[in-house]
Amino acid sequence: MPQVALITGASSGVGQALAPLLAEGGWRVYGMSRRSVALPGVMALPADITDAEAVHRAVDKLLQVEGRLDAVVHCAGIGGAGAVETMPLLRARAIMDTNYWGSWNVCQATLEALRRSPRGRLLLVSSIAGHMGIPFRSVYCGSKAAVLALSDSLRLEVRGSQLQVSCISPGDIATNSIATQYRQPAAELAPLYRARYQRADAGMAANVDHGMPAERVARRMVAILGKDSLAPHYVIGEPVQQLSTLARRLLPARTWEWVLSRYYS
Ligand SMILES: NC(=O)c1ccc[n+]([C@@H]2O[C@H](COP(=O)([O-])OP(=O)(O)OC[C@H]3O[C@@H](n4cnc5c(N)ncnc54)[C@H](OP(=O)(O)O)[C@@H]3O)[C@@H](O)[C@H]2O)c1
Repeated sequence: MPQVALITGASSGVGQALAPLLAEGGWRVYGMSRRSVALPGVMALPADITDAEAVHRAVDKLLQVEGRLDAVVHCAGIGGAGAVETMPLLRARAIMDTNYWGSWNVCQATLEALRRSPRGRLLLVSSIAGHMGIPFRSVYCGSKAAVLALSDSLRLEVRGSQLQVSCISPGDIATNSIATQYRQPAAELAPLYRARYQRADAGMAANVDHGMPAERVARRMVAILGKDSLAPHYVIGEPVQQLSTLARRLLPARTWEWVLSRYYS
């Protein structure tokens, strides 16, 4: 019996690279995103992950056809930039709604089926930005830190079942994410922030432009899905990015802040 996977965020970036790769590997693959996907070997399952009922309906449809679900890789997510002082609340909430509550909705809709699988796997996607606070990315960092905590909590909750949960924290990936996300216009920021915001925002956009290919992250995810025992966290990125998550935990807080403030001067 082929295994069945649900990949969210399948219309772009990492999810778009991963879904056909798994299909090639013999999985029956469903791709979820608001836009319908037309990818080789991938069945489209459109839904907005911020709409809990829509996600449940879509997953029920999958289960009616397949009768099982063996893996969920939850790639869907959005970025966003702005100053805490002036970023419009609705813009900030949309990031939390998508990244945290969207992950929550996907978990609630799929956990029961995943637990019934003899080899259930759930990969949530955080970010290196979820391991630290970055200026003018506070909501994104907060949403991804919350995904890390969700994953850690869930791992402990599902102990005693066959399901394994893990959280992936990638560094910069060259996808469309910067082009499609909300970035507060610099003119809306108070003069205190403006120049540093523009530098930080331009730096972020350049880092994403020169980031690793989505296929690299997708291939690593396939390898992780194939493991018998999943680690709680996987950091995927350049050595300096991997080191940054370690440094954040090990360095005294003021030392770490000094390091970051050099970067975001
Ligand atoms: N790119 C990076 O540098 C980077 C770094 C670290 C972590 N990450 C994380 O890695 C994951 C993948 O990022 P990416 O760069 O591949 O993103 P991307 O190219 O911008 O694609 C985002 C995907 O999420 C889907 N999505 C967004 N909002 C949704 C919603 N409300 N309901 C359903 N689907 C939704 C989009 O589909 P629709 O628009 O069709 O709905 C799209 O398929 C994200 O969680 C991101 O935060 C990215």
